[in-house]
Amino acid sequence: MMLSGARSRLPASVAPAAVLAAALLSSFARCSLQGRGDPVASVLSPYFGTKTRYEDVNPWLLVDPVAQQRDPELLAGTCTPVQLVALIRHGTRYPTTKQIRKLRQLQGLLQTRGSGDRGSGVAAALAEWPLWYDDWMDGQLVEKGRQDMRQLALRLAALFPDLFSRENYGRLQLITSSKHRCVDSSAAFLQGLWQHYHPGLPPPDVSDMGCDPPRINDKLMRFFDHCEKFLTDVERNDSALYHVEAFKTGPEMQKILNKVAATLQVPVNSLNADLIQVAFFTCSFDLAIKGVHSPWCDVFDVDDAKVLEYLNDLKQYWKRSYGYSINSRSSCTLFQEIFLHLDKAVEQKQR
Ligand SMILES: *[C@@H]1O[C@H](CO)[C@@H](O)[C@H](O)[C@H]1NC(C)=O
Repeated sequence: MMLSGARSRLPASVAPAAVLAAALLSSFARCSLQGRGDPVASVLSPYFGTKTRYEDVNPWLLVDPVAQQRDPELLAGTCTPVQLVALIRHGTRYPTTKQIRKLRQLQGLLQTRGSGDRGSGVAAALAEWPLWYDDWMDGQLVEKGRQDMRQLALRLAALFPDLFSRENYGRLQLITSSKHRCVDSSAAFLQGLWQHYHPGLPPPDVSDMGCDPPRINDKLMRFFDHCEKFLTDVERNDSALYHVEAFKTGPEMQKILNKVAATLQVPVNSLNADLIQVAFFTCSFDLAIKGVHSPWCDVFDVDDAKVLEYLNDLKQYWKRSYGYSINSRSSCTLFQEIFLHLDKAVEQKQR
């Protein structure tokens, strides 16, 4: 989602800097805030990548989700904010249908495993763990995700009070991709802003908020879907991710496959890297969506988590990031749009 309003603007896409911060800070979150009644569940949390909870990256969110955390001197000193352009990812979401089906396949394997015997506590706990994900959920924004967005809006508004003045409210412009989780994130963001202007009142429907409703623009926000060279060279090219495929069948993954097969008491050839990865994601989804410690977390130790984190990084590296230069170059249209808005704002200010 892209916010441009108060002479500013919001889009949703990938934010690599935020992901890096997540990895660096989540261990801090674990030591400092345990025992606050928050299920800071897992020693695996630092390896969840893009499925890391925001509060594990920024532990202040648990103390005061709306408080601004920026050095006030930065804004009170010589700088005058003229325009805000924010590129924002969607909030916490459900797994995709593809992931849910793989999880169901895993659950099915557990039901058929030889009963009786050596009694792996983890396997028994997993066989009884309810599968609460259903196909309709297909990557949709969850309530926690709406809250992520509302609180982000409130923090931004508190951080830039002049930009988010009442007079500027009508000039706010949101652009979103057509993905339902992004459209819903935009609406939740606007609801958060509405709460900023009307504290204590329940927010109305987006169409009654007195500002432009979010506009869908996939050419801008899903630039990769509209870049022919990216589609042929990477997206539809079976060999573009060959390093990922190699890693999936390599010795590091094989070790985990053997170990998990033993834990689950299922044949190792009934498992594969994709199923293992879904099991690992389920640990992070159960935590982010339900706030519970899933027994799927107990299948893995920290060394496994490092391997699985690497597998996901490797995939994003080749599919979205540095692996092929077209991956980043496909975002040029979006960045051109952003810089045009900034240039215009500066020009108007100077006049
Ligand atoms: C697919 O990817 C491979 C590996 O990067 C590359 O050598 C090949 O040229 C690509 N094919 C197409 C059609 O771009």
